[in-house]
Amino acid sequence: MLNRVRFFFSTVILGLCLAASTAWAQQPLPQSPQAHQAHQQAQHRWWKHAVIYEIYPRSFQDSNGDGVGDINGITSRLDYLRDLGIDAIWISPMYPSPLVDFGYDISDYTAIDPLYGTLADFDRLVSKAKARNIRVIMDFVPNHTSDQHPWFAESRSSRTNPKRDWYIWRDGNGMGQPPNNWQSWFGHSAWKFDPKTNQYYYHHFYTEQPDLNWRNPQVRKAMYDAMRFWLDRGVAGFRIDAVSRLFEDPNLHDDPILPGKNAYGDPNIVHKYTDNLPEVHEVLREMRKVANAYPGNPVLISEADEPNIAELTKMYGVKDDEIQLPMDFQVADVNKLSAPDFRRLLNEIDRNAAGGQPHYFFSNHDQPRQRDRYGDGMHNDQIAKLMAALLLTTRATPLMYYGEEIGMRTTEPARKEDVQDPIGKIGWPEEKGRDGERTPMQWDASTNAGFSIAQRPWLPVPPSTATYNVAAESQDPDSILSFYKRVLALRRSEPALRDGRYLPLNQEDPFVLAFLRKKAGKGDAILVVLNMSAEARTVKFDLAAHGFKQSSAKTLIAAPEIGPESTQLTHFTVPAFGVFIGSVH
Ligand code: NOJ
Repeated sequence: MLNRVRFFFSTVILGLCLAASTAWAQQPLPQSPQAHQAHQQAQHRWWKHAVIYEIYPRSFQDSNGDGVGDINGITSRLDYLRDLGIDAIWISPMYPSPLVDFGYDISDYTAIDPLYGTLADFDRLVSKAKARNIRVIMDFVPNHTSDQHPWFAESRSSRTNPKRDWYIWRDGNGMGQPPNNWQSWFGHSAWKFDPKTNQYYYHHFYTEQPDLNWRNPQVRKAMYDAMRFWLDRGVAGFRIDAVSRLFEDPNLHDDPILPGKNAYGDPNIVHKYTDNLPEVHEVLREMRKVANAYPGNPVLISEADEPNIAELTKMYGVKDDEIQLPMDFQVADVNKLSAPDFRRLLNEIDRNAAGGQPHYFFSNHDQPRQRDRYGDGMHNDQIAKLMAALLLTTRATPLMYYGEEIGMRTTEPARKEDVQDPIGKIGWPEEKGRDGERTPMQWDASTNAGFSIAQRPWLPVPPSTATYNVAAESQDPDSILSFYKRVLALRRSEPALRDGRYLPLNQEDPFVLAFLRKKAGKGDAILVVLNMSAEARTVKFDLAAHGFKQSSAKTLIAAPEIGPESTQLTHFTVPAFGVFIGSVH
């Protein structure tokens, strides 16, 4: 399977403005009760304790019967999200778009595509969500626009147009040759010839997604203004798309070529000159300033498919002045149940030099669902619970993808003619595209899984709906959904699980990942034991070094259930792929 896409300055506003920065923390404490309350609010880093849930809007809930999910559909499901225990939703793009990349090709940054509803619908969603203590996070796509954006129409109209320099235009390298060997992430050359002005434009993704020129101050201002537009409407922050691709080498050096070919039949290359250029951090600091100018501590989440934890760490900024939550693709893509691999990564990110908050996820709209990457075919439901426990009990802000809580699986198109995602059309059959992880949410066992009354939803409803759906799993105390609810509720009631320290245990164990979560000064701690193997394992915990004298742990949640005799710390038995979450004194 192809290694898929993983992935402002305001003087404005407010006497109210409570910047949530370290600088604020260093100010003397305000005196009046109102000022004190305002100070507390600014300090409240809600995103450190939140559980975030990604909604792919086309696939969550269709309210008007056109086969495509929409804003009012999401609003109608807010009670479900509240009852599940979700604190914030990140919604993939809903801006006007020709939908070549299903919304990641934006033609207007300050509007809603009629397919999804209206700005009034959006405002209603934000306010109804707020009434349920759920924050709304927008997707923001700064690297590229749609080729249908009026900015690009102007830019391509002539070499002297004032917006020419808003995009990356270059001469070819001789007869019919692009300027250099850079490749699009979605296959073939990253340069597209435009006959109107006899130059090539650069596109890191599809040809219909020309890259903006972030060295142009007018581009920066326009994009920061777009962020303010949504912050003014009450969004709680942004998930920022493809940030590491914002800059390209101005000298157009060729990328190094590696042996072999990729799924599109192109030579393998290292994206050395188009990825992670140092200027990215300057932009992230500017974006953070835009966000910090608003009350309520807006969060910036970045798609950060960094090659290692050291690179990921840079995303936090040297002075906590860039991204609060860089998505950790290292953890997401271990792609095998390996206690040593997870332990190494969790340890490394937990001790990151920037002191940044870890941000974990396993699935999203760009990669096959976790069930198919971590399941073994025989214990998939149990492994789904194990992955839930891993996501929700480690020290991190967890990010769930819709449908994981019911054990949805990847359902790839069977025929090329059924494929919606252009990657699947270009790369078929080796690369079938991302439709498989974007199928409709499975609400119940009725027609179209309760997602839509259309005859044909935009993607087919998977056969697994018959048994894996919200309605059925809500009735079953042993279901994946019930398990998620229990662990999410425990996270709420146990401060140690939200922001206690992470203390790894038995670090040489090849099969069982175990750790404590402990709040400073508290006498008890949460013990988490995850057996990542297909056999029962008996382990021994010596917690004296951590100040615990008791010889057994008290069960809070276990799957499968285990008897009390199994929780003796000197002889602790966890079933195959078993999960134990308990307390120790
Ligand atoms: C990352 C997004 O998650 C993906 O869906 C999109 O295709 C690319 N960025 C391009 O915007």
